[in-house]
Amino acid sequence: MSAPAAVLAGLGGYVPPRTVTNEELSRRMDTSDAWIVQRTGIRKRHWADPGVATSDLAVEAGHRALKSAGAGAPDDIGMVVVATATPDQQIPATAPDVAARLGLGPVAALDVAAGCSGFVYALATASAALVAGYAERVLVIGAETFRPFLNPADRSTAVIFGDGAGAAVLRRGTSDEAGAVQSVDLGSDGAFKDLVALPGNGSRHRSTDRAPHPDDQYIRMDGKEVFVHAVRRMAQSSAVALARAGWRVDQVDHVVGHQANLRILDALARQLGVDRSRVVTHIEQVGNTSAASIPLALADAADQGRFQPRDRLLLTSFGAGLTWGSAALTWPEITLT
Ligand code: ACO
Repeated sequence: MSAPAAVLAGLGGYVPPRTVTNEELSRRMDTSDAWIVQRTGIRKRHWADPGVATSDLAVEAGHRALKSAGAGAPDDIGMVVVATATPDQQIPATAPDVAARLGLGPVAALDVAAGCSGFVYALATASAALVAGYAERVLVIGAETFRPFLNPADRSTAVIFGDGAGAAVLRRGTSDEAGAVQSVDLGSDGAFKDLVALPGNGSRHRSTDRAPHPDDQYIRMDGKEVFVHAVRRMAQSSAVALARAGWRVDQVDHVVGHQANLRILDALARQLGVDRSRVVTHIEQVGNTSAASIPLALADAADQGRFQPRDRLLLTSFGAGLTWGSAALTWPEITLT
């Protein structure tokens, strides 16, 4: 029986032109191409040039998604949700600026801060708005500019993160349509908030008279601990999303997990009991782009013709917070630009 649902109607990705290879990083810090490839799977990433901010990447990806959704789409976009851990500034949010620059008029616009889980959280926000009838179409964008927040002295983060943006247009439709979101699962555990953190600019530090320590201006991460949580939380969340959709794991055609580390995706495939050939990977080309990673991976795989209409996709993510989230959807008939 069909029910109201959000339906994927357009998709687009954008990475800034500057490519940074592992060799380039090896010349700047004590690391090597062999270590980075073996421990993370990353071969290169893109970094935005000085002066380029998250909204600039979000606008580019948003343009592409609107175009993919078909002519006239900007007219009936009712909401813009930007998922980001690296907004242009503290106040105001990045989404209203992105909406204005895309010419979308006086739409609802908000940022979602859920670390690398941001895109799935934003997708859930959009789905809820569509099903509730607040909007006919929603533009969801995951966008990050990590380069300015990477400590050049911390090789464990500097080699991992990349910049980019991925965007999707969702429209109000029904659950039996190709492209419909079938289920969502979201969760968090703030007891582990220090595992991935960038404390320097928040009200906690600003409320004291002490100047923040210079290292607190950069992202820091307990990679080993995060790794363990990542696999466990994504596997558990995936199981919940699949149960809500009424799908067995062997019915999933493609698993699109957060692109944090190739070894995490391998371990996730083992935990889920999914053949590795069904796991989409894009991290080799772009590194960990946080909230942009799932839409960028989707756009890349779609561009390669990997998805067929009505294929079953499982999206799953985790990130700073800790947060995690998963969604089950079928693949729509869409054209990428
Ligand atoms: N080059 C060379 N050596 C390195 C590098 C590097 N870039 N980075 C660390 N090392 C060294 C360490 O110093 C350590 O050396 P030691 O044994 O002499 O002490 C050794 O390599 C092993 O370090 P580990 O931290 O144990 O390496 P690990 O295999 O765990 O890989 C990594 C580190 C890649 C960070 C991994 O733990 C990981 O991917 N974790 C998950 C991160 C993640 O998914 N984050 C997502 C959330 S982020 C968000 O939400 C914004």
